[in-house]
Amino acid sequence: KRLILIGPPGSGKGTQSPIIKEDYCLCHLATGDMLRAAVSAKTPLGIKAKEAMDKGELVSDDLVIGIIDEAMKKPSCQKGFILDGFPRTVVQAEKLDEMLKKQGAKVDKVLNFAIDDAILEERITGRWLHPSSGRTYHTKFAPPKTPGVDDVTGEPLIQRKDDTAAVLKSRLEAFHKQTEPVIGYYSQKGIVANLQAEKPPKEVTVEVQKVLSS
Ligand code: AP5
Ligand code: ZN
Repeated sequence: KRLILIGPPGSGKGTQSPIIKEDYCLCHLATGDMLRAAVSAKTPLGIKAKEAMDKGELVSDDLVIGIIDEAMKKPSCQKGFILDGFPRTVVQAEKLDEMLKKQGAKVDKVLNFAIDDAILEERITGRWLHPSSGRTYHTKFAPPKTPGVDDVTGEPLIQRKDDTAAVLKSRLEAFHKQTEPVIGYYSQKGIVANLQAEKPPKEVTVEVQKVLSS
């Protein structure tokens, strides 16, 4: 299956991805995770992306399309993939269609994590991240066994620099202006499934599984 996860910051894309990946053996490509890794390694790409990310704005289409084009060449991504955080503009969506067309492939399903903006601040400001695995926790909704420590590796957790109430505002603005039209783009193709993303994580997982088995 070739899947796309779309939703505002904090809607649960990164939380559901590993579960879908396990169930369907797909490769998981999260542009946000890849960009954060580039920023912390101070690669040329990371240096270019950092300013926009810190402000909660989108990185340029060319940069992220380049990352995805490269990543999708991996053999593990040939049979199927989960794209988390891409495409985020209509230009990116059109480019993805072009790339897939060359392989005789297309997007099968778009999971739209529908949720009210008002819920997102609490989710974002309470999030803790294990950077190398991408595992996320939440002080209230999904606390680690020991505060500030990853359950699996025992390594320290961090908070994302863009996870403040102020930067969230810009990220939401970018979502409504630039990413919502992408949902329209795929709706016209009849492949969007709407999820009630304000429900507890396990209930969202059940919804995802229903959509993917139908
Ligand atoms: P990115 O990393 O993609 O961030 P985002 O889209 O803002 O999404 P988040 O990662 O914040 O949210 P999520 O939906 O994954 O939530 P999560 O599951 O962790 O992008 C970051 C930046 O990179 C962008 O701002 C941009 O600058 C750049 N970028 C990336 N891709 C780009 C592109 N294609 N084009 C241009 N620029 C790009 O959940 C959040 C919290 O809530 C967690 O603590 C979790 O435990 C908790 N939680 C999750 N689900 C539930 C639930 N059901 N109930 C209660 N709590 C829950
Ligand atoms: Zn995420």
